[in-house]
Amino acid sequence: MKIDLPRLLDNLNRYSEIGRVQEIGVERIALSDEDKVARDLLKNQMEAAGLEVLIDELGNMIGLRKGLEEGAPVAFGSHLDTVYKGGRFDGALGVLAGLEAIHKLNDEGITTKKPLALINFTNEEGVRFAPDMMGSHVYSGQATVEEIWQSEAYDNPKDTVKGRLEAIGYLGDMKTGSMALDSFLELHIEQGPTLETDGIDIGAVNMVQGIYWTRYTIKGQANHAGTTPIGYRKDAGYAAAQIMQFIGDYPRKADDRVLTTVGTVSFEPNAINIVPDAASFTLDLRSVNAEALKKAQKAIDAFIENLIKSSGLELEKEEMVRFTPVQFDSGIVKLVRSEAEVLGLTVREMPSGAGHDAQMMAAMCPSAMIFVPSVKGISHNVQELTLDADIENGANVLLNIVLSLASKA
Ligand code: HGY
Ligand code: MN
Ligand code: MN
Repeated sequence: MKIDLPRLLDNLNRYSEIGRVQEIGVERIALSDEDKVARDLLKNQMEAAGLEVLIDELGNMIGLRKGLEEGAPVAFGSHLDTVYKGGRFDGALGVLAGLEAIHKLNDEGITTKKPLALINFTNEEGVRFAPDMMGSHVYSGQATVEEIWQSEAYDNPKDTVKGRLEAIGYLGDMKTGSMALDSFLELHIEQGPTLETDGIDIGAVNMVQGIYWTRYTIKGQANHAGTTPIGYRKDAGYAAAQIMQFIGDYPRKADDRVLTTVGTVSFEPNAINIVPDAASFTLDLRSVNAEALKKAQKAIDAFIENLIKSSGLELEKEEMVRFTPVQFDSGIVKLVRSEAEVLGLTVREMPSGAGHDAQMMAAMCPSAMIFVPSVKGISHNVQELTLDADIENGANVLLNIVLSLASKA
């Protein structure tokens, strides 16, 4: 069975207008007013497609389609929130291809044996509220709603997850995670160069890298840039620069099994002629290898602690996220391969470099992912692009796996 590509492309374009940035970019930060507009549109479209729409305590949106039998639904979906100056496909493709699968089953008058659930998870990106994969992290029982409700926006501690859910009208009453799922499938852009470089149509994702997020705040002493001799300085900015150099050197010189990124940095008082008395930055550490991840974190923390001690500075450290590498369900990974092959597509098993909701859902039900190529491997960037033919391939594989998972007794 094949999806209706023009209908899917039309819908993708429609959502891409919600928070559009430049030509084809999108900025739709979780729990923002733009996020609300996209959610409201999805809710209407889910209802128009005959789904029962459930909103849980974390704003996860679940569109339920009855099956011939009762029981745990076959679930699929992703997220509608984006990063700052992000792309139109990261997350939205998985949600809207899922909706297209529902439309197709409606067109064909097919009712599957098992119920189906299309899910839009809250705050997958985590760029304003930690942790990332927030909605699926709680849905899969790995954190409590109460704890996550208190999560404060990095840029405005007065904004909490609960306050923003209330503000956009998505503080639902369904208990998060109260609905057991038969399985979970996520279609997603690869966000890397592998599939395009090697000319492969579909990625059968078998695992996701581990992710550690940490925020460091170094405290020194503000002082005059012109009158303070070097030996008198407690320069938080200089210490941060040395640490960022060590962090950047680590995968290049010590262990290439990990990836390190310092994506945010800020100085206080942040003035041209004042020695900074505070420097705050984040470390995003990734690896497919749990041991390499731990080793890197330990080495970086040891370097930081030694430097802080020897420079008479102080350090605050916030462990924001500690997600270990996750293996997906081999049965469903095999299904991704076989359904791709039936459709005459080339397919390769591969790990995911990016974090995804499926990585959380794997803790509660058999889960896996389908990747489609990213042009030039670019993502988390307004130039993010996936070609129509690849969108069609990915959505067709998703539709046929859902059919096969939901038709089996
Ligand atoms: O950070 C990630 O890998 C994902 O985009 N949230
Ligand atoms: Mn994503
Ligand atoms: Mn992303």
